[in-house]
Amino acid sequence: DQRPVTQTAAKPATLPDAQTVTEVKHWTDRLFSFRVTRPASLRFRSGEFVMIGLLGDNGKPLLRAYSIASPAWDDELEFYSIKVPDGPLTSKLQHIQPGDEIILRPKPVGTLVLDALLPGQRLWFFATGTGIAPFASLMRDPDTYARYDQIVMMHTCRDVAELEYGHQLVDSIRQDEMLAELMGEGFADKLIYYPTTTREDSDTMGRITDNLVSGKVFADLGIPPLSPETDRGMVCGSLAFNTDMKTVLEGFGLEEGANSDPRHYVVEKAFVGDGV
Ligand code: FAD
Ligand code: A2P
Repeated sequence: DQRPVTQTAAKPATLPDAQTVTEVKHWTDRLFSFRVTRPASLRFRSGEFVMIGLLGDNGKPLLRAYSIASPAWDDELEFYSIKVPDGPLTSKLQHIQPGDEIILRPKPVGTLVLDALLPGQRLWFFATGTGIAPFASLMRDPDTYARYDQIVMMHTCRDVAELEYGHQLVDSIRQDEMLAELMGEGFADKLIYYPTTTREDSDTMGRITDNLVSGKVFADLGIPPLSPETDRGMVCGSLAFNTDMKTVLEGFGLEEGANSDPRHYVVEKAFVGDGV
């Protein structure tokens, strides 16, 4: 039958690469996280990102890059998102609810993967804002703990409320019985969490760059300064943050690596924008 098929308005268009939202949590008026079903065929390395989105008003997919925040062993996929008031995608995405569908292109890529680093003793995660998302995945990957003696998560936001997702995540990792079983008792002691704020008073304050250069973070944690012999780093934030972090890490003698050329640190933008 070659007759054209007429679609009725009542029938919702089926999304290409559709996945179903299973949970949504709003953290602040600028931040939310959500979980979706995982395509059975999707394999990814913790730290990678995929393209996700919704159908735009023109009926075409409106997609943006998103770091997968859940670990590779999880049945579902988790994302941690900004809400940009006039953002083409997030002005809509922030209203999703369990049962809704989103588009997810199952082609994970990215530089923030363990294989892009040389072996070392201590792995540092440096993130601002939603840049914590890839590390939310890596912090829950047993391979991270198998490869390093210590993992230091430095996360900086303007205010305390913006740190809450990371706080709860670290708490949940430390209490996770399944991870403890996989990793052995005491694995959680390897994870050091160093959250700071810059525009609201909190226990520990200051930009990541400043706390590294001044030596405050090393003094606070009682660990030696960064060295290419022992330390590896992953950076995820605004372009301005990433650029400044490169200068800081190179100042400690660390060199930038890539999937094809593993070295001491790797960098990925948390978003493309007017960060400078
Ligand atoms: P856009 O038109 O895309 O952005 C509008 C403006 O909002 C940008 O110019 C920028 O100034 C600002 N902005 C965008 N994203 C952010 C952000 N995350 N934090 C602060 N300001 C921002 N976003 C996430 O929320 N979570 C992620 O895990 C994530 N992972 C990414 C990974 C990569 C590799 C890249 C390149 C981007 C990632 N982004 C992430 C940003 C994301 O792709 C979109 O830009 C974001 O969802 C906003 O989409 P939008 O269409 O609403 O607005
Ligand atoms: P600050 O408040 O001093 O600007 P934003 O919300 O603007 O994306 O910033 C998120 C966090 O990243 C803020 O705490 C901000 O500190 C910090 N930050 C922004 N730019 C840089 C940078 N170039 N180097 C280090 N930290 C930065």
